[in-house]
Amino acid sequence: ATEETLVLVKPDGVARGMTGAILARIEAKGYSLVDIRLVEPDRTTLEQHYAEHEGKPFYEPLLDFMMSGPSVAIRLAGDRVIEGFRSLAGTTDPTTAAPGTVRGDFGRDWGLKVQQNLVHGSDSVESAQRELSIWF
Ligand code: CMP
Repeated sequence: ATEETLVLVKPDGVARGMTGAILARIEAKGYSLVDIRLVEPDRTTLEQHYAEHEGKPFYEPLLDFMMSGPSVAIRLAGDRVIEGFRSLAGTTDPTTAAPGTVRGDFGRDWGLKVQQNLVHGSDSVESAQRELSIWF
């Protein structure tokens, strides 16, 4: 079924000039950009977005990282786009994400307390609805 998902090009992706390369992969896969904006989220927005990670060791570093510069927020649509984008993105840890994925090709571990893994994609229909309402 046609779905929508929230994609973020995170601050590392924007700062490294990877936004265009990431968008090119999304468009090459055939998904539709419904809305796109450059965002500098405040802490409250990030607390909502990352509520499920509160209390984890990487939570504060994650919020600091996400406030370190702008992200590009994308409302993306297509059949099975939630699964499809997560497949394009690769697994969370960029060092071991498969080559051919965004994280596998462009990311690595920088020895920090948070994984700077270039992109975020919603993990379910419920998460997508919740996250889209936070960022758009
Ligand atoms: P994201 O998909 O945005 O969701 C949570 C983020 O937390 C994740 O990408 C990574 O940036 C970060 N993250 C998740 N797990 C870990 C971990 N074990 N150590 C450090 N950072 C993590």
